[in-house]
Amino acid sequence: MCRHLAYLGPSVPLADLLTAPEHSLYEQSWAPRLQRHGTVNADGFGFGWYPAPDDPPDDPPDDPPGGPARPGRYRRAVPIWADPNLPDLLRTLSSTALLAAVRSATAGTSQDESAAAPFRDGPWLFSHNGAVPDWTRLPDTGLGPAEMLALEAHSDSALLWATLVQRLRRGQPAGAALADVVRRTAAARPTARLNLLLTDGRGIAATRHGDTLWYARADGRVLVASEPDRSGAPWQEVPDHSLLLATPAAVHIAPLRPPGRAPRPSHRADRTPTSPEDADRMTSRFSLETRLPADHTAMALRADVLNGLGAQPRWLPPKWFYDARGSELFEEITRLPEYYPTRAEHEILIRRAPEIAALTRARQLVELGSGSSRKTRVLLDALTAAGTLECYAPLDVSASALEEAGTALCRDYPGLRVQATVADFQRDLVLPEPQGPEQHGPRLLAFLGSTVGNLDTPERRAFHGLLRRTMSGDDALLLGADLVKDRDVLVRAYDDSQGVTAAFNKNVLQVLNRELNADFDLDSFDHLAVWNEDEERIEMRLRSRHQQTVKIPDVDLSLDFARGEELLTELSIKFRRESLTAELAAAGLQVRQWWTDQQRRFALLLIVPD
Ligand SMILES: C[S@@+](CC[C@H](N)C(=O)[O-])C[C@H]1O[C@@H](n2cnc3c(N)ncnc32)[C@H](O)[C@@H]1O
Repeated sequence: MCRHLAYLGPSVPLADLLTAPEHSLYEQSWAPRLQRHGTVNADGFGFGWYPAPDDPPDDPPDDPPGGPARPGRYRRAVPIWADPNLPDLLRTLSSTALLAAVRSATAGTSQDESAAAPFRDGPWLFSHNGAVPDWTRLPDTGLGPAEMLALEAHSDSALLWATLVQRLRRGQPAGAALADVVRRTAAARPTARLNLLLTDGRGIAATRHGDTLWYARADGRVLVASEPDRSGAPWQEVPDHSLLLATPAAVHIAPLRPPGRAPRPSHRADRTPTSPEDADRMTSRFSLETRLPADHTAMALRADVLNGLGAQPRWLPPKWFYDARGSELFEEITRLPEYYPTRAEHEILIRRAPEIAALTRARQLVELGSGSSRKTRVLLDALTAAGTLECYAPLDVSASALEEAGTALCRDYPGLRVQATVADFQRDLVLPEPQGPEQHGPRLLAFLGSTVGNLDTPERRAFHGLLRRTMSGDDALLLGADLVKDRDVLVRAYDDSQGVTAAFNKNVLQVLNRELNADFDLDSFDHLAVWNEDEERIEMRLRSRHQQTVKIPDVDLSLDFARGEELLTELSIKFRRESLTAELAAAGLQVRQWWTDQQRRFALLLIVPD
């Protein structure tokens, strides 16, 4: 129900945003294409816009010089197509900022124009796309009788707005306030749909929680909308359960923490931009784009589960380890005494980074499977010292890892732009479009941590081919590869004494429980790390402790596990110099440097196209 839209950018006639584009908000009022609930948005509409900076302020005491302007607002209870005044208004009004909505009313809410968005307070405009079941008895709103009586309309949206306004008036930053309202409401009403949209004319904050949300940013403009128009703007879908903070300069998307999960204090204050203003400052150098379709988890995970768990022996691709918890656990693994690969690779990077910077003179560093980007700092330091680096472009399936790493790097590298992409490098290896001066310079692609060892031989061949086709003549590739070594050292690295790797391995079952409503009992499986001598690889497996049946209702699977039956969750291939060099050569990639740590446990390869 409802569709809404916000715009920031150069001043344009409002008609250019609301009625002119093919499949505009106007058309979405009677023919939405992506709306998940309700059909026609005929129960009113509204829009708010901001006066141009040189217009006289309407209320000088409230509008200090340079402060946010108070928006104008127009709302009607009729369908948007039934207002004869609208075409003239939209043709003659122009603005640099707009928030507009068409409404499909929820049963039990008022139908007059006071219930049409946008709601307004000071510089803020607000709209809600969604519904809160049993909203009149919503607990814990923090509203007293006076605030309840002052609700602008008898509707769930007006109630949400009142709870949000309280926070904004107390000075809580916009993003944090939106996230707080969504989390508390979702905790009390788990089926509530809470796509909220807020602007002060300088930044946009929005949540996607239960319905669709898209954004398009280009040429100094940004649009955020329930669904894309067909104007040709570069629309990107926002993942469900996300907070989006946008300015014309950058878009920042962060996962909304599930209800009840407390923020980690060490990250909150300095790493999370929490208002459009913060976003403006921080995200002018940090952007995070999502290339995964919104239904990626639903569709790709379903396909992998049907494919892998339906097979004999059963298997799952390792990328599903890396939800937010999995990414955290992997970070813990890298600090374990038994897990030598991270330390060995770090050692090589420290020794060779100046040489890598001198040889590549990279203006852009693109990293695949970047995770925490912790080791990458060595490269960033060297390339910055060499004076060539303009932009760091990490790419990972884990949005939370990218978000944490990206915001920390922006803080610690004041001149660096960080252009992060959430994508699956096996499905869609499109490197981020360079947006600054680095367009005209060499790139260094980094693929560290021996993540290449998680790909089996056919996957690796395909991936090398893909990399080669993506690289231009002056690009280089830095590849981290773990080497064949003593079996005991290897097994210990994947089966540590503290059980962190076991928790990481079992996390994939947790992902299936959460995403597909599966009923895996984690205690009924044992973690195993096995050295496969013939294939020269570590295999991480989960072994069923007893005979059991596991149900995965979302894919209609019922799996019988025999006692001792194993499920393969990760391959970690260990390499030898000759075979890896030959494999790369077959893909048109030439190894220019082969560096190892002092104990020759790990190799770092500098590779150029043939
Ligand atoms: C073994 S960790 C390595 C992390 C980091 N590069 C390091 O060296 O510490 C693998 C990383 O690749 C990411 N990843 C795994 N499969 C991926 C895929 N198909 N597409 C994109 N990222 C992937 C994971 O989210 C994780 O951050």
